[in-house]
Amino acid sequence: MGITGMVYMVTMVFSLIVLILSSSTVGFDYFQFTQQYQPAACNSNPTPCNDPPDKLFTVHGLWPSNKVGGDPEYCKTRNHRKRAKKLEPQLEIIWPNVLDRTNHTGFWSRQWTKHGTCGYPTIQNENDYFETVIKMYITEKQNVSRILSNAKIEPDGISRALVDIQNAIRNGTNDKIPKLKCQKKNRVTELVEITLCSDKNRAHFIDCPNPFLPGSPYLCPTNNIQY
Ligand SMILES: *[C@@H]1O[C@H](CO)[C@@H](O)[C@H](O)[C@H]1NC(C)=O
Ligand SMILES: *[C@@H]1O[C@H](CO)[C@@H](O)[C@H](O)[C@H]1NC(C)=O
Ligand SMILES: *[C@@H]1O[C@H](CO)[C@@H](O)[C@H](O)[C@H]1NC(C)=O
Repeated sequence: MGITGMVYMVTMVFSLIVLILSSSTVGFDYFQFTQQYQPAACNSNPTPCNDPPDKLFTVHGLWPSNKVGGDPEYCKTRNHRKRAKKLEPQLEIIWPNVLDRTNHTGFWSRQWTKHGTCGYPTIQNENDYFETVIKMYITEKQNVSRILSNAKIEPDGISRALVDIQNAIRNGTNDKIPKLKCQKKNRVTELVEITLCSDKNRAHFIDCPNPFLPGSPYLCPTNNIQY
């Protein structure tokens, strides 16, 4: 092989490596569908919520994620179909801006720009992002408040065992393990968020790959979780 051939080969191999590296960082391999318990979301915020929270888990976001390495954020939009106005009445119920109810659209736009844009091709465009979340929460019955309530776990503000919460969610998600986020405030540990995970095509639930680890301030203890 001559010098030209060598240069050609090296260039090809190099390009291939760049291609592989870049595709693995912009891609994603599963979705996190995260819902927040409104009173706990208000408690965790440095400034109090203006309006009283409802005792409900509502949507925080739908996040394309990676099992290993960072999650993609702020991706390029490829198809510019905007969120249809007619979705707003439903979004206000399932995806309110709990911290500032005068600005739901600001919350939705941030979630779309930061996370939703990275869900292509499962998520085709902005309108599809919001329609997908409505479908998940309502049609596919991924309403976490409802799933807990089916297991007779109501938001009474009492202490719960981690395993009871997990089992309730597993019963509603084909026996898959959710990701739970807790926070300690004045010696009480409250349940803040529950994340359901699905494969990248949103065809099946999966066990959530990246739980909070011991040492994390968000790790839920095995007992005495307030909900
Ligand atoms: C609503 O939130 C967006 C995004 O955070 C912000 O840019 C905008 O100024 C806010 N609008 C109002 C009226 O507060
Ligand atoms: C979600 O479930 C809760 C508890 O059952 C219920 O009160 C609420 O109306 C449900 N939300 C929707 C949009 O169905
Ligand atoms: C399990 O899920 C079914 C179907 O939603 C529900 O009827 C039942 O009450 C649930 N049981 C528990 C223990 O969560």
